[in-house]
Amino acid sequence: MFQSRIAGIGYYVPKNIYTNDDLKRFMDTSDEWIQERTGIKERRYADRLTETTTSMGVEAATIAIQRAGITSKDVDFIIFATLSPDYYFPGCAVLLQRTMGMGEVGALDIRNQCSGFVYALSIADQFVKTGMYKNILVVGSEKQSFAMDHSTRGRAISVIFGDGAGAVIVQPTTEHGKGILSTHLHSDGAEAEKLAMYYPGASGGIGLANQPKWPDQELGGMFITPQMIADGTIFPVMDGQAVFKKAVVKFPEVILEALAKNNLNPTDIDLLVPHQANLRISQYVQKKLGLTDDKVFNNIQKYGNTTAASIPIALCEAWEAGKIKEGDLVCLAAFGAGFTWGSALIRW
Ligand code: UT7
Repeated sequence: MFQSRIAGIGYYVPKNIYTNDDLKRFMDTSDEWIQERTGIKERRYADRLTETTTSMGVEAATIAIQRAGITSKDVDFIIFATLSPDYYFPGCAVLLQRTMGMGEVGALDIRNQCSGFVYALSIADQFVKTGMYKNILVVGSEKQSFAMDHSTRGRAISVIFGDGAGAVIVQPTTEHGKGILSTHLHSDGAEAEKLAMYYPGASGGIGLANQPKWPDQELGGMFITPQMIADGTIFPVMDGQAVFKKAVVKFPEVILEALAKNNLNPTDIDLLVPHQANLRISQYVQKKLGLTDDKVFNNIQKYGNTTAASIPIALCEAWEAGKIKEGDLVCLAAFGAGFTWGSALIRW
């Protein structure tokens, strides 16, 4: 049985910076409101017509591959996490495989939103441990700006989310006690509709309070209607307070679970890299675990919540800034739509 480790890491964020004040051109909001509630100062938006979730993933993957000292031809499995795929199907993993000229390797897309990267890393860890693959590319990438409601109607959601990508190469290691020590994945679908994008979706909104009126025909035709575009039903929905309340419970819980599994304590953590959901959530978690400021990495101020990309972007920035050294204990933790949540403990 092997252990797996992160052998290379990279990230990419688009050039276009939108500050909180910039958003005032589109909606009734304020820098004060956004910073006070979320900590966000600015976010990046992909170029509408030239950048895609896949293309940003390719940028991040190129750096991760190079830092791992391999080429794209060496990648033997791809896992791509996103909630904003280029196409409804097929997924982004095959588009990345094509763009990067990789071999006919397995390509898996996963849909676990903000927990996407932790889920993807866990899957990579299992495949490496069993000896099945040796160079797994894990990507988290999001172009969320493509379909957000940037009007006052959608301000409670659109100010929070941003675009970007991060990637890692996961390889086997024989160094005892090094690499990914354990991963922990959870879900609770009871509140699935509290943070969701219902359409287009095969349910057609059956059972939802505001079930759309579909065309009167015998079959099909339940994709989107002009009415849904007009009334904003096609945009994501979020009960922010419900998400917040659950997140501040599940983040500490799943971090403590990972520590307990490895007979470690919060004081053993050298760096916690939480999913960048909201600075207030990260601060709450930090306090709950009794961690000092230098033990928790946050960059939501610059990028907003980049969903599946947020952990690999933050992990890469922290590593580039010298905040992660050989032998450090790094904890990743995420919570998001589903609800799903998870953690990973890594001895760097
Ligand atoms: O990865 C998981 C992703 N999601 C999350 O982590 C979300 C967790 N939840 C949160 O971060 C917070 O709930 C939010 C930041 C989303 C919202 O903060 P809140 O303190 O829960 O605000 P609220 O939704 O209760 O809204 C308070 C007020 C409302 O006005 P009224 O009804 O009190 O007059 C909103 O209309 O703030 C208003 N508001 C805004 N005002 C200015 C909502 N969005 C904005 C905005 N600018 N962008």
